[in-house]
Amino acid sequence: MTALRLGIAGLGTVGAGVLRTLEQNSAMITARCGRAIQVVAVSARDKNKARNFDIKNLQWVDDPLALAGMPNVDVVVELMGGDSPARQLVETGLRNGKAVITANKALIAGHGMMLTQLAEAKQVVFAFEAAVVGGIPVIKTIREALAANKISEIQGILNGTCNYILTQMRLRQMSFQAALQEAQTRGYAEADPLFDINGTDAAHKLAILAALAFGTQLDLNAVSAEGISGITPDDIIFAEELGFRIKLLSVARHHEYGLEQRVSPCLIPLLSPLASVENEYNAIQIQGDAIGHLMLVGRGAGAEATASAVLADIMDIAAGRHALPFNVAVSALQKCLPPAAEKSRSSFYLRLVVSDQPGVVADIATILRDHKISIESLLQRGRAMAAGVPVVITTHETMASAMQQAAAKIVKLPVVLEPPCVLRIENN
Ligand code: NAP
Ligand code: HSE
Repeated sequence: MTALRLGIAGLGTVGAGVLRTLEQNSAMITARCGRAIQVVAVSARDKNKARNFDIKNLQWVDDPLALAGMPNVDVVVELMGGDSPARQLVETGLRNGKAVITANKALIAGHGMMLTQLAEAKQVVFAFEAAVVGGIPVIKTIREALAANKISEIQGILNGTCNYILTQMRLRQMSFQAALQEAQTRGYAEADPLFDINGTDAAHKLAILAALAFGTQLDLNAVSAEGISGITPDDIIFAEELGFRIKLLSVARHHEYGLEQRVSPCLIPLLSPLASVENEYNAIQIQGDAIGHLMLVGRGAGAEATASAVLADIMDIAAGRHALPFNVAVSALQKCLPPAAEKSRSSFYLRLVVSDQPGVVADIATILRDHKISIESLLQRGRAMAAGVPVVITTHETMASAMQQAAAKIVKLPVVLEPPCVLRIENN
């Protein structure tokens, strides 16, 4: 059988991982697909950049879009990231009747419906396993292995960079910036790491998973996203003292009244399986009516782990295995509304920095009482050497909107010296 011929755009962390793994495991991959997989052309920004793999035997094209028009390319592999020229490459590849593989979650979250419809119309394969949590085969698992299940909830740690930062801040007392820099050096972060730390990257992944799991139209605007930049080393220590760990948690929950989709830093119990998922590892817990509870854990970022997912998609094409990206045609996906704000309830962690003077706690407690928020515990540490002392309050379950309103009033108290840190406590 003839080889499956690839044109790869993007030779960075993921592209390099794909080329290295393909070379290293070439005989085994060929045997498993029944045919060879051959890279015929590559493209990146800078032809002369030093790379830790050899591209001299591969055809180089300056313009990545050219890959979509090359007659000797069967599969376009988009590993550049970002919007342009990635979107044009994927779209042109599909229009030209080529199979397309991408790891670009921003692209799928923003344009996944349109691109999938195009692939349907052209009857070509469009696959993006690597776009969601790197090496963990979550798309295949939901789409194929759990196809018979009605899924009610997905919850997990979907961003390796944030998980790496939070882990290193706790274990090595690293500063936020130093930990982020290390995550960037290790190839975990997005080209613009703001996408990682403000929750956008996790929101992209959650939107894709929610569409797949709940059979709903992919709608990034329905996902609320909050990042980890407000988390201080003190929050991490206080959370542990209270029996919790802080994780950037992504939750998609099906309620009778709508589909909740949110990304936010949360306190989760130390004994929860997600609490021990550290560094660049990601995890997804899925609740299905037949399977019950299922948890997948693995490397959510990094060269070889992500290459593993890209190559699995390529090998499916080589072996003639096809699946609809969202299990059903895009036209069969349902519109799903987010739940009304008043339906969102949680217990909360509230950390304040206040002047060390009598009556402060009473002022704060009064505002909470006025918003019908009941205090579960209160922690105050030492007398201030300088400006302020931290006060940490946990609440019983309350409406999220009431907590927001109370926090907005509390911050206006003259004794409150910094904007409060308000985090959900997720006990599920
Ligand atoms: P990266 O290391 O920054 O590599 C990007 C590659 O694309 C580089 O080779 C770059 O060329 C090339 N490129 C960028 N803009 C280009 C342009 N305008 N024209 C031609 N080539 C261009 O990124 P990455 O980490 O590999 O990520 C690639 C994609 O995979 C992104 O969508 C990312 O979200 C996704 N992803 C990444 C990971 C991960 O762990 N890193 C995991 C899952 C998914 P030069 O090399 O010449 O600069
Ligand atoms: N920047 C992403 C992360 C890469 O840190 O999770 C994997 O999608």
